[in-house]
Amino acid sequence: MKRFLLALTTFALVAGAVEAKTANEEQEAIKFANNIIKKMTLREKFGQLEQFVTRKGVVTGPEGVKRDIESAIRNGEVGSFLSIRKPEEALRLQKMSVEESRLGIPLIFGYDIIHGCKVIFPENLAMACSWNLEAVERAARVAAEESVAAGIHWTFSPMCDISVDPRWSRVSEGAGEDPYLGAKIAAAMVRGYQGDDLSSDKTIAACVKHFAAYGAAQAGRDYNTVDMSELMFRNLYLPPYKAALDAGAVTVMSSFNDFHGVPASGNKWLLYDLLRKELGFKGFVVSDWNAVHEMIIHGVAANGKDAAELALKAHLNMDMVGGDYIAYGEQLVKEGRISEKLVDELVREVLVIKYRLGLFEDPYRYGSQKQEGAYYRPEHLAFARNVAAESMVLLKNNGVLPLQKGVKIALIGPFADSQIDQLGAWRGLGEKEHSITIRTALEERFGKENVLYTKACECGRYKNGLIEGGIEEAVKIAEQSDVILLSMGLSGWHSGESRSRAEITVPADQQQLLDALKKTGKKIVVLLATGRAMDIRNEVEKSDAVLLTWHGGTMEGPAVADLVSGDKNPSGHLTMSFPYHVGQIPVHYNSKNTGRPAKSQFKAQGYSASYVDMQNAPLFPFGYGLSYSEFEYSDLKVLTPTVELGGVVKVSVKVTNKGKYDGDDVAQLYVHDIVAETTRPVRELKGFERLSLKAGESKVVTFEVPTSDLAYCHQDMSWKADKGDFKVWVGADSYATLEGRFTIK
Ligand code: BGC
Repeated sequence: MKRFLLALTTFALVAGAVEAKTANEEQEAIKFANNIIKKMTLREKFGQLEQFVTRKGVVTGPEGVKRDIESAIRNGEVGSFLSIRKPEEALRLQKMSVEESRLGIPLIFGYDIIHGCKVIFPENLAMACSWNLEAVERAARVAAEESVAAGIHWTFSPMCDISVDPRWSRVSEGAGEDPYLGAKIAAAMVRGYQGDDLSSDKTIAACVKHFAAYGAAQAGRDYNTVDMSELMFRNLYLPPYKAALDAGAVTVMSSFNDFHGVPASGNKWLLYDLLRKELGFKGFVVSDWNAVHEMIIHGVAANGKDAAELALKAHLNMDMVGGDYIAYGEQLVKEGRISEKLVDELVREVLVIKYRLGLFEDPYRYGSQKQEGAYYRPEHLAFARNVAAESMVLLKNNGVLPLQKGVKIALIGPFADSQIDQLGAWRGLGEKEHSITIRTALEERFGKENVLYTKACECGRYKNGLIEGGIEEAVKIAEQSDVILLSMGLSGWHSGESRSRAEITVPADQQQLLDALKKTGKKIVVLLATGRAMDIRNEVEKSDAVLLTWHGGTMEGPAVADLVSGDKNPSGHLTMSFPYHVGQIPVHYNSKNTGRPAKSQFKAQGYSASYVDMQNAPLFPFGYGLSYSEFEYSDLKVLTPTVELGGVVKVSVKVTNKGKYDGDDVAQLYVHDIVAETTRPVRELKGFERLSLKAGESKVVTFEVPTSDLAYCHQDMSWKADKGDFKVWVGADSYATLEGRFTIK
């Protein structure tokens, strides 16, 4: 039977191979899946809807459903595994499923390839600051190619969660606070992972997560409840998920949080009405880790059986590790609580993606190709170095950077020589041994004799605080040097899932180190390591320059050396506001005007939407980033002062590099809808362009904004643009002052 099925599959695929990219593909896949479904027992169907991890030979799950992997696979009780690190292990399990289970259905292997597989790129928030969509897409493709070699079919990325709360540690995984940029980045990542052929040996399946609104966890506490109006959700949170789906993402992950009072994994409005009926999604949905079972703890299900029923009825296809589908699915059908027709639909959606990945044609293709030469390719490392440099943001510079030739550097701090921290929180299959640290790169660039190094303090998961004698040694080498480079901030462990913080300042011991170094009177350049926006008032005040280096990935060190030496010019721009104080959160550029706006965003004041003890403005706004050059924006021209609804608004601006260094800048266009049906943000990003200008060179940039991009959610939840007057600004950050107007007729 199993052989027959495989033969059938091979036939279907060979016959259908040519049409793989046509509309027929879907029909072929559905037909193929239906043929298998006819042969499946109810238990095998629920098996396809289960994803497990393997730990010490057992598959996980709630009490009573633990069983050994091998019999689970042979019995057809598993459709997928996640987080298998070794291709040999993936291959072993795949063989078992294909050759020893009754129907021989291949497994699909998922993994968190979040910002790189072997070559680790900067964390996603950092990469977004490059505003370089081509680079983001290529980074995803590099990750996909390495994943294929490692036997991975499917990544749990892109994370499309907008967040305005840097206390939430998972901001490192997203693109920042803006839905327009977030949407562009989400789509670029999907294109990078999936290409236009899922069955190619250079692509893998993407997963849009965490659906939905996970980034709005109250108080920035991971997994916390989310509650917001549907209007806000549609305006600010939905666009990146939608863009990723429009780009063709074939899977979606439901989030941990509840939304409008119902946990996402059992939320039929989210997973069916919105996702499938309104947004037209046809792939499959996997729950987040144990999220189906956690509906008991949320308090909407009395037990695992109820939780499975809720999730199945919400049209959630795959249960990640919880085990409730396989434990209770059959009973639910037998008792008439779930129809077998629904189960068939859920199974079909999973099988169709397996088919489209080419798994039925050749289940061993992934990972079985030569791994040698597939990982850490020199051109990928060179590319990662560029991406890291473009992601770093120069926040302050009083002229100390770029460093003079022949300077003697005191390199100090917990992250200057930490191969692990620079990889950030999600490291895919990246090995720290491949990381080139700031220390190694500076020694190479400036000469070993010109770089004195000491760590001075620890910062990470297990060790924290000043090293004995650390300050003394740091001061000593600082005194022997011309300039101090202080690599400080938060470790890789402080980013990603479950690392929420109420304090977003640099830890106190590192501040103590800074104070001691300040007393030496030497110039100080802070190299800020972080995966989130932080309150760095203190560091900005006490230093001469601040370069935001993030967790810059495998090639962070060389990228830092490129920038501080002036071999490259900083060009990153923030995609998340850096608050002035944690108490301002949420602080983001696209706020509402209110009926009583503050007269100044920079002064404390009463009787307005402001504080009486602090400014409203963040320390560094969205879009902000310096360069060694100065870019002047002039001659803003609205080329279409009036435009028909459905037309395109055209605005041009002249950008001149007034400095003495060649460099890149990111020209940004913002609009404000002056009178709308519902209140609109004071500014909204609606266009951007990264441009390269030689010293002294000018360029005219013309933005084209389709009026459809000015659509927003109305009271009746419709999404459309209105006629009326708009303001428009162009500049190098969200404070841009060059202003024009246009009217939509
Ligand atoms: C995270 C997801 C991740 C999943 C699988 C969960 O805890 O929230 O983002 O994809 O684990 O590792």
